[in-house]
Amino acid sequence: MEIFEVLKRRRSTRQYTGKAVSQEDLELILDAAMLSPVARARFEDMHLTVISDKTLLQAISENVRQKTGRDRDPLFGAPVLVLVSVKPAGEVPQNNEYSSAAMIAHNMTLAATALGLGSCDIWGAIGLANQNPELKARFGLPEGFVAVCSVTIGETDEAMPVRDVDKQKIAKHYIA
Ligand SMILES: Cc1cc2nc3c(=O)[nH]c(=O)nc-3n(C[C@H](O)[C@H](O)[C@H](O)COP(=O)(O)O)c2cc1C
Repeated sequence: MEIFEVLKRRRSTRQYTGKAVSQEDLELILDAAMLSPVARARFEDMHLTVISDKTLLQAISENVRQKTGRDRDPLFGAPVLVLVSVKPAGEVPQNNEYSSAAMIAHNMTLAATALGLGSCDIWGAIGLANQNPELKARFGLPEGFVAVCSVTIGETDEAMPVRDVDKQKIAKHYIA
């Protein structure tokens, strides 16, 4: 798929069939993560956790339900959640570290789109998981790492049509 077609087809998918993602597709999506830019090339301070364990996915969803009182599954029944974690240089992650994680996540959503798979950035559920020490421990992160964001990935019945570009969507001005 040509890059502009991928960009126009990518959308946040919040409905999955639940079918497992093939190992081949998963590897390609993880390759896209490896191709991401990372601030100061600190790749060693980034970490990916590929979660397909249903009990852990359910625990992440249940934690959100408990903390927000909302009933909707925040992971939408996706069969895979890839966590992006960082090892902050300071006490808490800073702009560069959050941004690098976001770029990695976005590379994965673009790759998923190119493969015809649905994906969605999931930030809220990760922030809430970090407030739950028992759940956080189940991520099995290396020492010093903290999960900052994630993406759901999976087959969807939802259409992912080429979208028209709304040129006014984000305000802009020019300085010539
Ligand atoms: C930093 C960031 C965090 C997001 N967090 C969530 C989230 O926790 N849950 C969710 O359903 N969507 C989340 N989204 C998806 C946005 O809601 C979505 O990108 C936006 O509504 C535009 O829709 P589109 O992705 O279909 O173009 C997030 C997107 C970004 C960029």
